[in-house]
Amino acid sequence: MAGKIPQEFIDELLARVDIVDVIDGRVPLKKAGKDHKACCPFHEERTPSFTVSPDKQFYHCFGCGVHGTAISFLMEYEHMDFREAVENLAVRVGLEFPVETGAPEIKRQSLDLLTIVEEADQHFRLQLRKHPQAETAIRYLKARGVSGEIAAEFGIGYAPDGWHNLLDSLGTDLKRRQLFSTAGLLVKKEDGSYYDRFRNRIMFPIRDSRDRVVGFGGRVLGDEEPKYLNSPETPVFHKGAELYALSKARGAIKAQQLAVVVEGYMDVVSLAQFGIQNAVATLGTATTRAHLERLFRYCPEIIFCFDGDRAGRDAAWRALETTLAVLRDGRQVGFLFLPDGQDPDSVVRAEGATGFNERLQGAAPLPEYLLRHLSDQVDLTRLDGRARLIEQAKPLINQIPPGALRELLLDRLAELAQIQRTSLSALAANKPTAAAKTPPKANQPPMRQSLVRVALALLLQHPRLARIAGDVDALRALDSVPGVDLLAQVVHSVTEHPGLSTAALLERFRGTEHKKHLEKLSIWDHMIPEKHVETEFRATLTKLRARLRDQQTQVLLDKSRSEPLNDREKAQLRELLARGQA
Ligand code: CTP
Ligand code: MN
Repeated sequence: MAGKIPQEFIDELLARVDIVDVIDGRVPLKKAGKDHKACCPFHEERTPSFTVSPDKQFYHCFGCGVHGTAISFLMEYEHMDFREAVENLAVRVGLEFPVETGAPEIKRQSLDLLTIVEEADQHFRLQLRKHPQAETAIRYLKARGVSGEIAAEFGIGYAPDGWHNLLDSLGTDLKRRQLFSTAGLLVKKEDGSYYDRFRNRIMFPIRDSRDRVVGFGGRVLGDEEPKYLNSPETPVFHKGAELYALSKARGAIKAQQLAVVVEGYMDVVSLAQFGIQNAVATLGTATTRAHLERLFRYCPEIIFCFDGDRAGRDAAWRALETTLAVLRDGRQVGFLFLPDGQDPDSVVRAEGATGFNERLQGAAPLPEYLLRHLSDQVDLTRLDGRARLIEQAKPLINQIPPGALRELLLDRLAELAQIQRTSLSALAANKPTAAAKTPPKANQPPMRQSLVRVALALLLQHPRLARIAGDVDALRALDSVPGVDLLAQVVHSVTEHPGLSTAALLERFRGTEHKKHLEKLSIWDHMIPEKHVETEFRATLTKLRARLRDQQTQVLLDKSRSEPLNDREKAQLRELLARGQA
């Protein structure tokens, strides 16, 4: 296939790259037995279920079920496309990228999507200037105090009322309508026709870190619901990783060594209008590890400034919980609580940049917020209240990587709880509770132990077993057992390319119907201890061969009932029956 990266190149690449290294640079890992662990960067959690196996060159989260190779990790975590991820790794290990390959399909689709989203962005901006009803939108923005200058700076646009504005202007042929639909800008109806997703809304373009528009947030002009509508997840738009205005704010964040995280698009826009350029917003989702790791790449300090309402306060506590595990020494996190009913937009408009900056100065450092929040829920004058405080604080504090910050927090906790610091340490050092130790397996439905599954799983997890697989092609005749064909394919892959790791093996099946199944099997806990792996693999294949003999015997016996067998068949049947008894 033209434009495809040669599989041998991927093999070579994955043979040189160390996945532990690749991930550890982004999500600090801790060694745990043979594997390495961390709190999962793809979902929020307090105890590490994200596991990286150097043997398999594969990662897997027992909590949320994500898994993959070094290539997949870059695709998921950094939002690279396949080629970008491969290129990135190739540079890392000093492999020359093969030149003869053109742009692969996969990149073309993302590029097409980016172009389509870009066109929509131009369209929405044009509507704000030219559409007959733009007046209502402009009036709305003015009423909210958004200057024309700042609206242009953020590329704010307008999706006029009606079901087919964008459709008529840009959805000129079926291929384009399909692309707009994949980009979340058109919605496909049951009858195959399309309509505009965004209608009568102020449009906020959302850019990725490379400053390309990847999605939109659209706000109604009045009180209709939902107030905000965002682009759905698409191949180029991932809410759990993008931050509104990050590409624009990055310079200021670096210069001031501080990032301010707010909840709303309008908050970011207003802050910028008042000269506070280092603010970004989440996209209607909770703060994720990916968000934090991204920001900490540019600055050592983050201040969360959520709305002064119930939802804002809850969001702040959730943000704290997510932050703990990434709080290496040298990183600082603060929380700014606004008066009830206020948000950064209203505060900066009422108090100006000076007022807002003063509030930022007074933000509560994470340790203080953590202890205050928990102390507020107990009666510190009572012994059992103080015990409860320790119970609540301990697991949170223990998530902070070892270092000065953790020690200081424990000091402070000891003071508050009026307990000797040494007794507290003894308590704090306690093994995690059973509940915390057993990773949630919610996303791992039990798998049935079939012979082929066991064989495939063992083979994927220990590719060296291919050596002892023997002749697997004969097994392909086993038509009563699904999967033998795939088993044979995997055995061949390894025999032809000895030394393939689990990850490299899986990469060979990227883009095929088998990928998912094989990935599942490669992390499946089949409960076979390491030292029995070879015996078990042999035994499984022996059983499969016995099945094959049974099948062949049955065929010949059936045939003999309707017609006489020829000499060759008779000999074969004799041999089969004899072997069956052996
Ligand atoms: N949000 C969302 N969907 C909603 C409501 C909110 O995705 N139905 C997200 C948007 O990203 C929004 C943020 O949550 O910017 C904050 O919501 P909210 O505080 O309600 O809005 P504000 O940003 O204050 O918006 P405005 O000032 O325009 O009312
Ligand atoms: Mn608001």
